[in-house]
Amino acid sequence: MPANKNSLNQKIGKIIWRCPSNIAIVKYWGKKEGQIPSNSSLSMTLSHSFTEIELDFNDRKTTSGIELDYFFENKKNAEFENRVRKYLDEQSGFFPVLNRYAVRMNSRNSFPHSAGIASSASAFGAVALSLLDASFIVNNQLLDDSFFRQSSELARKGSGSACRSMYSGFVLWGKNEFMQGSSNEFAVPVLSVHDNFKRLHNAILIVDNSPKKISSSIGHSLMDQNVYAKSRFAQANERTSQLIKVLANGDFEEFIKIAESEALTLHAMMMTSENYYLLMKPGTLSAINKITTFRKETGIPVCFTLDAGPNVHLLYPEADKNKVEYFIKNDMKDNIGAVIFDKIGMGPQKIK
Ligand code: DP6
Repeated sequence: MPANKNSLNQKIGKIIWRCPSNIAIVKYWGKKEGQIPSNSSLSMTLSHSFTEIELDFNDRKTTSGIELDYFFENKKNAEFENRVRKYLDEQSGFFPVLNRYAVRMNSRNSFPHSAGIASSASAFGAVALSLLDASFIVNNQLLDDSFFRQSSELARKGSGSACRSMYSGFVLWGKNEFMQGSSNEFAVPVLSVHDNFKRLHNAILIVDNSPKKISSSIGHSLMDQNVYAKSRFAQANERTSQLIKVLANGDFEEFIKIAESEALTLHAMMMTSENYYLLMKPGTLSAINKITTFRKETGIPVCFTLDAGPNVHLLYPEADKNKVEYFIKNDMKDNIGAVIFDKIGMGPQKIK
């Protein structure tokens, strides 16, 4: 608590948080009231794909309500500002800074819009981290081990996948019998990881960069009526358990099976919803075929995964980086507009 009114009215200054995006290997698709996932999911945190938020807290102009200005790359972004404002109205009790100061946030992504990278994960991750840190500062509270657990829980309420961006490497969200301390409310890092997976790369082939026609939120809600929902949720929980074991024992073949089947199952769920839809494009299928053929011919353990969109994520070990990237640049050049080269990352970072 600030000691007196003067210290309350001071401009405290600026903090900057960088939060990475993540790519799910076992997918979260379907949720319950309160952003509780219908099944557990397990992702890999990325390195170069991130959102950075610069947060200033200044004197307030009014005595009540939230005073928020949200900018995206120095410009007002009404759509995302409304989503953030709604989130903050619901969660303001967890962010004391919002009751005491006027907050200005300026957000930027390291990756192009609609690149098929989950921008809501890194964006809500950065919103939660910066506001929670500012709240710790105004409460004179030191950052401790609980900080990332709390920011994971708060980020989840903004966007489910955001809760997994709080840790480096592989991250689990959802209660799982093989992982002590796991929860449906926040994510936990998977610490037992074989050397085979410690330096995994992720290249994102941009097959199509037009904006999403159907939001993930609508996709999740369609699972409520999907006839395959029950078995899908059971399958995802089972695969999460399998993947935890695979990450520890280094079995790349099993990893590939889980990753690719998860990607196709996610899209199968969209195609089998009552209001069915299809996000894959011809370029998606062609890229998938080339990747699996390349793997068969060379024996290089490269596989694909998909997000809720047409773009294709390749996963491959550092040892095969040059060969896979040569393959992408030469054999895939007719399929894709651009490629983003990323890799496993270290988690959020306080820049200032
Ligand atoms: C296909 O986290 O974007 O990327 O909770 O409604 O914000 P909301 O959904 P979101 O869903 C992500 C779905 C996914 C799979 C995943 O990341 O696990």
